[in-house]
Amino acid sequence: MLKNDLYLRAHFGESIPRYPVWLMRQAGRILPEYRAIRSKVSGFKELVETPHLAAEVTLQPVDRLDVDAAILFSDILVVPDAMGLRYEMVEQRGPFFSEVIRCNDDLNKLDQNADVYERLAYVFEAIKITKVELKNRVPLIGFAGAPWTIFCYMVEGKGSKTFSEAKKMLYQNPDLAHELLERITDFTIEYMKGQQNAGVDALQLFDSWAGVLGRLQYETFGLKYIQKIARAFEGFPFTVFAKGALGSLNEMADLTCTTLGLDWNMEIQMARDLVGETKTLQGNLDPCLLYSDKSTIAHETKKLLDSFRSPRHIVNLGHGVYPDVDFEHVKMLINTVKNYENKFR
Ligand code: CP3
Repeated sequence: MLKNDLYLRAHFGESIPRYPVWLMRQAGRILPEYRAIRSKVSGFKELVETPHLAAEVTLQPVDRLDVDAAILFSDILVVPDAMGLRYEMVEQRGPFFSEVIRCNDDLNKLDQNADVYERLAYVFEAIKITKVELKNRVPLIGFAGAPWTIFCYMVEGKGSKTFSEAKKMLYQNPDLAHELLERITDFTIEYMKGQQNAGVDALQLFDSWAGVLGRLQYETFGLKYIQKIARAFEGFPFTVFAKGALGSLNEMADLTCTTLGLDWNMEIQMARDLVGETKTLQGNLDPCLLYSDKSTIAHETKKLLDSFRSPRHIVNLGHGVYPDVDFEHVKMLINTVKNYENKFR
């Protein structure tokens, strides 16, 4: 039994005395403890692939920030890696893939028989250790990248503002695009099932590059595959965070998931009008708000809380926390949420 289950209760619209809060990318460079461990290993990948270290870093924000949920320290790129396209995390630059998928023959670069449980055993081990060390304080969130975002990295090979190589394939070879998206989807379902079996209490899909597609393309190449995954977890606390997918919120209301994550481009009440009351909304403060002074942070956070009309909310930023924000400012946001009484309990 969890000592603090506010986050889980919010997924189902159950009554809660106050709103839960956690931050995307809370396990990371904002914490000096993270930077200390990070400097002792060869790189990001070693941290991700060493279960006891990944578990330790997962726990840090729970100890230091007192958030209402832990998120497993890992990366969405472990999926393409396990499928056969290895990634490197280049310091100061981000992910890089030396092999990419651009034509039908490139599918041979993928390992047809890659076994999720074998390839990603390090993730499942990290989950088991984390669950023991959390001692039921708060729920543990597992996650994966949504198929479209993983596809972007597998085709483009690195970060991009436009992901035009990935989008090019949608126009020039849509059959190949669907074949690759289908393979990513099936692998991701297996991977998330593995996380569930290892003990995570909730799951989140990150579709960071949803916003590079128009509404119809997102329906065809994005939401279709997200729905296939969400359906496999019906009844389980499940969040879909599709960054920049403002134009698709109406369609997203029909996904088989409990919660939709929102970026800061849309006001909560506009989103609520489009989505209706059957989903929990997560978000959506501007990560740059944390560069502001403490009283502005408290004021803006209260404004967000005041805009809620039901218990179906989880407070978060609209994207990951930036590594250079002042730790005390993060605390201000969290404490403001914790001291705010929910009028709808
Ligand atoms: O949220 C958490 O605290 C859990 C850990 C987590 C990481 N990445 C750790 C990480 C999660 C949930 C992710 C997801 C992820 N990874 C996404 C989706 C969310 C989003 O931000 O849109 C994406 C697109 C990636 C891919 C990725 N990983 C990029 C583009 C980069 C480089 C940019 C950067 O922030 O440095 C990473 C590296 C990464 N993943 C770091 C961390 C803590 C920083 C690496 C370091 O310590 O050097």
